[in-house]
Amino acid sequence: MGDFVVGDADFELDGRPVRLLSGALHYFRVHESQWGHRLAMLRAMGLNCVETYVPWNLHEPRPGELRDVAALGRFLDAAAEAGLWAIVRPGPYICAEWENGGLPHWLTGPLGGRIRTRDAEYLARVERWFGVLLPQVVERQIDRGGPVIMVQVENEYGSYGSDQRYLRQLAAKLRDLGVRVPLFTSDGPEDHMLTGGSVPGVLATVNFGSQAREGFATLRRHRPKGPLMCMEFWCGWFDHWGDEHVVRDPADAAAALREILAAGASVNLYMAHGGTSFAGWAGANRGGELHGGPLHPDVTSYDYDAPIDEFGRATPKFWAFREVLAAYADGPLPELPSAPPELGAGAEAELDVWTPLGEVLDVLGGPERAFGQAPTFEELDVDRGVVRYRVDVPGPRQPYPLRARGLRDRAVVHVDGVRAGVLTEDSPELPSPVAGPARVELLVESLGRVNYGPRLGEPKGLTGGVLHERQFLHGVRATGLRLDAFDDAERVRGLRGLRGLPSRAPEGEAGLYRGSLSVEGAGDAVLELPSFTRGFVWVNGFCLGRYWVLGPQESLYVPGPVLREGANEVWVLELEGVGAGASVRVSAPAAG
Ligand code: GLA
Repeated sequence: MGDFVVGDADFELDGRPVRLLSGALHYFRVHESQWGHRLAMLRAMGLNCVETYVPWNLHEPRPGELRDVAALGRFLDAAAEAGLWAIVRPGPYICAEWENGGLPHWLTGPLGGRIRTRDAEYLARVERWFGVLLPQVVERQIDRGGPVIMVQVENEYGSYGSDQRYLRQLAAKLRDLGVRVPLFTSDGPEDHMLTGGSVPGVLATVNFGSQAREGFATLRRHRPKGPLMCMEFWCGWFDHWGDEHVVRDPADAAAALREILAAGASVNLYMAHGGTSFAGWAGANRGGELHGGPLHPDVTSYDYDAPIDEFGRATPKFWAFREVLAAYADGPLPELPSAPPELGAGAEAELDVWTPLGEVLDVLGGPERAFGQAPTFEELDVDRGVVRYRVDVPGPRQPYPLRARGLRDRAVVHVDGVRAGVLTEDSPELPSPVAGPARVELLVESLGRVNYGPRLGEPKGLTGGVLHERQFLHGVRATGLRLDAFDDAERVRGLRGLRGLPSRAPEGEAGLYRGSLSVEGAGDAVLELPSFTRGFVWVNGFCLGRYWVLGPQESLYVPGPVLREGANEVWVLELEGVGAGASVRVSAPAAG
């Protein structure tokens, strides 16, 4: 039991000042059987607290259809067992390089710009969700003997909006639902962010990667009293597909951490351990001044160049941080837990059975429906996945340019069954004009919904119709395939190729590939797909996430508990086309 409060100068536990040495670790980015190891690593680094977000869209994939909300409670119990306090950031918006910033597509689709405001319909949805989620947190507050010491209101709201009424209502809702521990907000250390994003009577904290003195001075202009805390100390950073891998020098990061602590402040390392955006949940950013520029989808790995790497190993940054943090610890720091086993011998397998993508869509996708104008992914209830659009060009007519207007994000196009090109948002027109009559098929893929900035929640798919010359083509038929259709292994096995009939892919084809990897000494591994282009991969039904030949990520993390001794079933959903020799390889992770 404990009484944790925000004092005039410090956080106080039962009347004694305490400093929070916290680290972010998202339970949904780490395989559950590895939580204990990762939490012990946080303790060994010198932390006394763990912080996690909660992704609404993961837990409520369809309105009212809830999935394992209890996972949060189990994680908080694991934190308590590891001897850590816990900070919970329940959103409803979380950013976090996560699909749609954690908001469900079924919410942002119909509500558009009304999200993250006082809008009554939005708030009613949030209330219903919080009513289900918050009991996990409330039961585990510190005054009831649990680890939870603080709960965040929204997330960096001042980087997005200024609806104070919304923030106040959200804070009041958390109180109504039984949150007794301190509430807080977190924002960039800038005046407009702090005025837009903080709430009178609720602790304000700031987020930054360096220049602690300046950051806290700005916070002090807004909050003359109260404990100082950097709620997100960005000690690393994330990667985008097609960009350089980002790293931050350990000595530089350790110096920035030292500066925060020297200011007398508390800290939350973002991230202490980043983990992996399994199952295609990675989000996307938009570049450019006002975040309306080109789409930059986030890679699957959320290693984040964090002190504890994607495999759960201590990096040089870990040792540098441990040295800084040790000076603030109550006693000697615990030893590191023993490392999880790594894969013994590597293995390679040819994926020798194949089902064409069209058949995968026919069997695992929703029903094909006809629309006057092309529907969005949201209208078809597709969160992560692909949509096949089919439309006829009337004829006879001469060749004209064919364009996918408002395309998000990529389309592989066939005209009369022949591949005609790959379209993107920036290049939405087929290279050659199309004569009529013709049958056009566009396989459109979402690369992850935007998680930050004014374009948050924008829809995916053919959002502006299909144009021939400047004329709309109507009567569009569409079939959506959600990635979670692959959760039903029996249905997947019902596909022709997966029944093991001789069905080798003609070279270059998109589709679902299957093979079996024979493993000795199951343990943590990396998986590579040397001849594949872009898609998703599953091992024993567990979706490792998106792969893409574009890089910088070149292999996917396979958590040890996913692999079995002996035969392991691998599925690869290739969306663009495969080179010669469709094979996969697993091996032990390279030395860190
Ligand atoms: C912000 C958000 C986080 C995360 C970081 C960047 O601070 O609050 O969720 O997106 O940026 O990693």
